[in-house]
Amino acid sequence: MSDAPKRPPVTLASNKNKNNSGETNRIAAHSHIRGLDGDACGLTGQTAAREALSLWADLIQKQRVAGRALMLVGPPGSGKTALALALAKQLGPSVPFCALAASRVYSQEVSATAVLAEHFRQAMGLRIRETKEVYEGEVTELTVQETQDALQAYGRTISHVVLTLKTTKGTKTLQLDPTMYDALQKEKVVVGDVIYIEANSGAVKRVGRSDSFATEFDLEAEEYVALPKGEVHKKRQVVQDVTLHDLDVANAHPSAGPRDVSTLLSSLQKPKKTEITDKLRQEINKVVQKYIADGVAEFVPGVLFLDEVHMLDLEAFTFLHRSLESPLSPILVLATNRGMTQIRNADGLISPHGIPADFLDRLLIVPTRPYEAAELQQILSTRAQTEQLKMQPEALDLLTQIGVRTSLRFAVQLLTPAMQLAKVRGLEEIDAAAVQSVDSLFWDGKTSAQFLQKQQ
Ligand SMILES: Nc1ncnc2c1ncn2[C@@H]1O[C@H](COP(=O)(O)OP(=O)(O)OP(=O)(O)O)[C@@H](O)[C@H]1O
Ligand SMILES: [Mg+2]
Repeated sequence: MSDAPKRPPVTLASNKNKNNSGETNRIAAHSHIRGLDGDACGLTGQTAAREALSLWADLIQKQRVAGRALMLVGPPGSGKTALALALAKQLGPSVPFCALAASRVYSQEVSATAVLAEHFRQAMGLRIRETKEVYEGEVTELTVQETQDALQAYGRTISHVVLTLKTTKGTKTLQLDPTMYDALQKEKVVVGDVIYIEANSGAVKRVGRSDSFATEFDLEAEEYVALPKGEVHKKRQVVQDVTLHDLDVANAHPSAGPRDVSTLLSSLQKPKKTEITDKLRQEINKVVQKYIADGVAEFVPGVLFLDEVHMLDLEAFTFLHRSLESPLSPILVLATNRGMTQIRNADGLISPHGIPADFLDRLLIVPTRPYEAAELQQILSTRAQTEQLKMQPEALDLLTQIGVRTSLRFAVQLLTPAMQLAKVRGLEEIDAAAVQSVDSLFWDGKTSAQFLQKQQ
């Protein structure tokens, strides 16, 4: 992009797996999950579903497919959310992953489609490869040439700066514009420093002090670096990952929309608080699509995980449908634990999983099944390890029985209180008695329901 106008360098934004406050707890409940397969992945059983998701992960990474939708269906506590998070871990940090519980779509001040739209954008990444021309080396000469100021009788102004840079391969003397002097001063560049200058933007970065000066002082806070290799003037490739949402936020400005990818990016530094309109998104899409077509940028479709999808209403499903058809769309992973149920806000219309038939038709469905005792035991033991709790074998057996009788979630929740009780009795690990007493102290959902029924 040699035609790019001069502008300050862009700070790198990364595709962190963004999770808003609501999601932190959810992650904690699944902190033992590290991936879809392998010994240390933290998952137990549910092999068919895991295989299906692994296949999906491969597809996402290698083929860069977009606009597909997959749905995890199974009873509560059968690991749907856990599997989706494992998929995220499997995909790694370079694929954007965004999780949203459908109930949160309706708990905010903005419209449901606006919330969905924003999360769709967070789940789409753009990888931009730029080759930047840089000058790099150790400063061996830095002199300022002054001339008489034409306007002020006694004033002098800087006419240019002479800078010589040295690398292992040679030296090069540059004549710099006076404005560059400020940039050099800001970085406090002196002779003997290793610096690099971006040719396009003129940005100066002081890397450190050349290590040939390393013995100057006995004690100091200076960072010494080796003399740069190669030529002084060279090309460097920089890769930058951003999500479309980052670009939206950065370019949300009432005046003109973005014109090219570099303006799009440079705005990342100064996010403004203006509303992101549909029009802006479309404009950004246009620019992005042009740059994808030109090969400047690569589209990285990420994953949008929509949990509790039965909570969505017809309008939201229409939005999902439409978004999946768009050329820029992420991969959708949905999850629900409902069977035949009413579609929200649809006059009592009943459908499988509370999802309209036409949308359901687009989905690949992956079932998760309830766990058997052995799997339950394994999950409980993994969980205890992650929470760094020690457990006697009899205690684990008892807890497994409780899990079979009640639910996996209930059994997992008993771990910490059981440890607490054991500690009170001066033990270092959970014993069967501790499990027994927490089980009698707390009720699970089923017990509570039975009690209520008896009361009626
Ligand atoms: N196969 C598994 N291996 C290890 N841990 C698991 C597995 N399945 C579930 N868990 C753990 O059990 C707990 C419950 O699972 P999860 O929340 O994923 O269930 P869910 O299917 O999403 O339930 P719901 O329908 O209620 O949302 C979580 O802490 C999860 O990490
Ligand atoms: Mg769940």
